Amino acid sequence: MSVSTAALDQSICAPLPVLGADVTVPLVTGGDVTYAALDYAASAPALQRVWDDVAAYAPYYGSVHRGAGYLSQLSTDLFESSRTTVADFLGCRPEDQVVFTRSTTDSLNLLASALPADCQVFVFETEHHASLLPWRDARVTYLDAPRTPAEAVATLERALAGRDPHGPALVCVTGASNVTGELWPVKELTSAAHAHGARIVLDAAQLAPHHPVDIADLDVDWVAFSGHKLYAPFGSGVLAGRADWLRDAEPYLAGGGASRKVARRADGGVDVEWHTTPARHEAGSPNVIGVYSIAAACRALTEAGFDRLVAREQQLVTRVREGLAGVPEVRVLSLFGDDAPRVGVISFVVEGWNSSHFAAALSAEYGIGVRDGLFCAHPLVRTLLGSEPQEPGECGAPEAEPGERSLNAIRVSFGAGTPDEHIERFLGAVRELVRTGARWSYRTEDGRCVPDRGAAQV
Ligand SMILES: Cc1ncc(COP(=O)(O)O)c(C=O)c1O
Repeated sequence: MSVSTAALDQSICAPLPVLGADVTVPLVTGGDVTYAALDYAASAPALQRVWDDVAAYAPYYGSVHRGAGYLSQLSTDLFESSRTTVADFLGCRPEDQVVFTRSTTDSLNLLASALPADCQVFVFETEHHASLLPWRDARVTYLDAPRTPAEAVATLERALAGRDPHGPALVCVTGASNVTGELWPVKELTSAAHAHGARIVLDAAQLAPHHPVDIADLDVDWVAFSGHKLYAPFGSGVLAGRADWLRDAEPYLAGGGASRKVARRADGGVDVEWHTTPARHEAGSPNVIGVYSIAAACRALTEAGFDRLVAREQQLVTRVREGLAGVPEVRVLSLFGDDAPRVGVISFVVEGWNSSHFAAALSAEYGIGVRDGLFCAHPLVRTLLGSEPQEPGECGAPEAEPGERSLNAIRVSFGAGTPDEHIERFLGAVRELVRTGARWSYRTEDGRCVPDRGAAQV
C-alpha cells in the first residue's frame, strides 16, 4: 500500500463542529499549535451542538421526579423524553427499557448485579476490562481470542454447546474493539447465543459513536454505551434492553427515586416497594444534564446523517492505515486481519520505540493527543504484542522506561469532529519521528513519559 495523496471526498460531509477545535497547546520545541485530539476512543470532544443544547437548557435546570415547581416539571419532562430519544436512536423494541447510568462500566456492572441466580457468563478474553470484569459473582467462562470473526462464532458455539439450555446464561461482547477498532460479528454471535438459550449484551462503547446501532435488528438483549465517547461528556451512560432481569433484580442502588412506597412495619422494620420501571436502578437525584446531553448527541448524529459520518470516517480510516503502511517500522495491531471492517480506532507499535516515548513526542513536539498503554484490555494487547503477562499497572500507565523494548502500544482514534489536517499532521509526525527521531529528550515521571524540561534539545 502506498500513501494516498488524493484529497478526501469532501462531498460526503464536513467534520461536525466540536468544542476545543481552536485550542492551542505549547510545543516543547517552541511556539503553539492547535491541539489535534486523536484520542476519541478514550473520550471524544463535545459536539458544539450538544454544548449549545445543554447551554440552552441550563437556566431551566431543576430537580427531576421530585419537585412541584415549573422548572422541576420541565426538567422531569426533558429527562423522560431523553429516554425516548435514546430508545429511538438505538432502535429499541417497545418492551425495552432505557436505564440511565454513569457510563458503560456502570451499565455492565448494573447488568451483572441483575443476573439471575446460577447465571453462566461467557466473555472473550479480548474484551475491555469493563466487559471482562463485572461478572465476578457469576460462573464465568473466558473464551480464547479468536483470529477471525468466524472463529469467534465457532468458539462461542462450542462453549455454549455443553451447557444446560434451560439455565440462565449471558454472553458479553464488544461491538467494536477499543484496541483494533475491528467490528465483531454481533449478529452471528447473537444467533449462536439465542440458539443455546443464552442472552447477549453488546458493549457498544466504541460502536455507538462510530456506527448506527439497532437493537431490534441486531436482536441483542442489551446495549451499553457511554455519553463521553458519544460527544456528550457530562457523566451519563446507558443500559438499554430487556426489562425482565432488571425488573426482577434488587435495585442497583437503594434509595429515593428507586422506591415507590416505604413504610414502617409493626415489628419495627421497613417495608419497601421498588419501582419496576427504569427508575428501579436510578436511585438518587439523576444527572439530568448528562442524560439530556446524550439525547442531544443522538439527535445531532441522526440529523447530520449518521451514514454520511460513517462514510467520512471510513475515508479517514483508509487514509491512516495507508499512511502507516507506508512506514515499514510501524506494525498495526489486528486480530481479524487487514480486510476486517473497522471504526476509527487504530493501535500500532513502532520498531525500536517505546510506545510511551513515541506518544509523548507526538504530544510535546506536534500537539497531537493519542493514547499509549494497554488500553484497559490487557489480555488482548498482550496477545497482539506477543508479550508475556506481567503485573498490570495502572490503566494506561507506561510499563517500560523510555528506550526499553516496548511492552505497550500507541492508539490513534478519531471520529465525527476530526478534520483532515489532524490526520495529515499525525501521519507526517509518525514519518518524521521514525526517520529523524525525537527532537527532545524525555524521562519517566510519576509513571508518565514527559519531556525533560531541564535537558538540552537533542
Ligand atoms: C469497548 C469499551 N467498553 C467499555 C469501556 C468503558 O467505558 P467507560 O470508561 O465510559 O465506562 C470502554 C472505554 O474505553 C471501551 O472502550
